[in-house]
Amino acid sequence: MDIESGLIPVGDIAEAVDGFLAASPAARGWDVETAVDWSRADAGLLSEGQRSAVEFITLIEDHLPGYFEVYHRYFPVDDSVDARTFVHNRELYHFTVRWALEEDTHARALTRYQQASGMAERDALRTALAVEGRRPFDLPYEHPVQFFAYALVQEKATQMYYQQLRDVVGDPVLATVLSRLARDEARHFSFMADVVGRYLRVHGDAVVEPIRDVVAHFRMPLADTMRGYWRWALKIADVAEYDHTEAYEHLVKVIDRAVDARTDQVDELVRFIDQCRIVA
Ligand SMILES: [Fe+2]
Ligand SMILES: [Fe+2]
Repeated sequence: MDIESGLIPVGDIAEAVDGFLAASPAARGWDVETAVDWSRADAGLLSEGQRSAVEFITLIEDHLPGYFEVYHRYFPVDDSVDARTFVHNRELYHFTVRWALEEDTHARALTRYQQASGMAERDALRTALAVEGRRPFDLPYEHPVQFFAYALVQEKATQMYYQQLRDVVGDPVLATVLSRLARDEARHFSFMADVVGRYLRVHGDAVVEPIRDVVAHFRMPLADTMRGYWRWALKIADVAEYDHTEAYEHLVKVIDRAVDARTDQVDELVRFIDQCRIVA
């Protein structure tokens, strides 16, 4: 299966993108410059584990160029695809650029927090971020639904982590930043949920195996490339729970909402997803 032949109709992706943009009006947007009183940021109010968590999520958010590139690689907006696919990808691009702007804002907000709170010097932080930032990122999937299913789990897991971290951090300025981020991730999740639901309604059982494959091999972004990722991930999980398998129940809800009656294949997929949660 190549990416092009597995797509949903352009009308479906356009509706999902319109829905996302309608839920994200500029008036409700925010920016790093005005949303937060940075002069009150104080890393002295954070525990060592909380500071470590901030460093970790800054690195993850700062890898945006790598994530953004994946969309261009698999949903190109040029003459490497046929006209019908181009039209689909051009619609998706309206989502991708807005999403990328929001994720870039997350990266800037977290680096700004590190500087303003006294956690890091700007030059040193920039240089440190470049070490991981230069590493390649890829999601080598073969079916288009897999990119959206992956992002569905990842956005929900990130949203949940930011909310949990917000509830325990000692610095109210950081709590404000994390609230903003969590709300954005929730909207990103909703878009992915909408798209995955459409894939299930359009393609039915044909997307069950590709989705199963995503869950079976799921790793959070940078888990395979970042030095010391697992040690770090375990350490920050002590501060607030960072268990991406908690997001799986939201994938199951999306599946249940999309299918009127579970086929044997869908039933088996849901059992498999539930098992992944219990084992983890
Ligand atoms: Fe983000
Ligand atoms: Fe996001």
